[in-house]
Amino acid sequence: MTGTDPLSPWRRLADTCVLLDGFHALKHALRFGAEVPVAVTADRGAALALADELAPDVRPSLDALLTEVPEESYRALVPRPHPTAVAALAVRPSRAAHLEQLARTPRTAPVVVLDQPRNLGNAGAVIRLAAGFGATGVVTTGPLDPWHPTVVRGGAGLHFATAVERLTAPELPPGPLFALDPEGDDIRGLKLPDDAVLAFGSERSGLSPDVRARADHLVALPMRPQVSSYNLATSVAMTLYHWSLGSAGSPGTPGGS
Ligand SMILES: C[S@@+](CC[C@H](N)C(=O)[O-])C[C@H]1O[C@@H](n2cnc3c(N)ncnc32)[C@H](O)[C@@H]1O
Repeated sequence: MTGTDPLSPWRRLADTCVLLDGFHALKHALRFGAEVPVAVTADRGAALALADELAPDVRPSLDALLTEVPEESYRALVPRPHPTAVAALAVRPSRAAHLEQLARTPRTAPVVVLDQPRNLGNAGAVIRLAAGFGATGVVTTGPLDPWHPTVVRGGAGLHFATAVERLTAPELPPGPLFALDPEGDDIRGLKLPDDAVLAFGSERSGLSPDVRARADHLVALPMRPQVSSYNLATSVAMTLYHWSLGSAGSPGTPGGS
């Protein structure tokens, strides 16, 4: 198509959209209803073969969306080329819709709160966990942007499967607040309700005074003496798993691609 620059939609949207970096991020985003106005690849045949193998459900959408561009053009669009050589831009979901989703009660699955997290990789891993367990949302407090490109990369496109927003401590969603802290009561003696708000402290200094003051329960994960704490994302994993054992609202059959 002489005269048509296949990257002009990308240039127009790059500043306002969310970068989906790699085949799996695009696959997840499409599955969970993201609006994806532009998607490119350096190898359309390889990307569609991957879809045939791993994600036939989204193959028709990928077939319609993916534009092949030269390898150098693809490389110029992403911070680090992905092995699948696929990249796309998605429209960030509306904050108002997310706030409504987070505030709605009764709730069938908890909200995860990361209180002043520092590490972008941890935040992405937590969003992926929350999506996998069907959590209502992930709320962060503090300066970290949960839609930062590095967090989105760590979340593997699953920001679109749960409500991800930044709020202040007084704005946290309603529901009993279970704050995770090694000094709390052993989680094994507790049932975490579906409407729980599960709060986790920062990697460096644990729970903030504001969130600690609002907590209805302090909850500890089993840990042998002399170990100070677990990693933030693994703490969220254990807690959501514990919730899932006692809940009818938790995800069903294991597996997936
Ligand atoms: C890396 S830890 C924070 C360590 C920090 N130095 C502190 O003073 O608490 C991050 C968060 O994971 C959760 N966490 C880690 N280990 C835990 C445990 N054994 N029981 C409950 N929560 C835990 C807590 O919410 C904690 O604030």
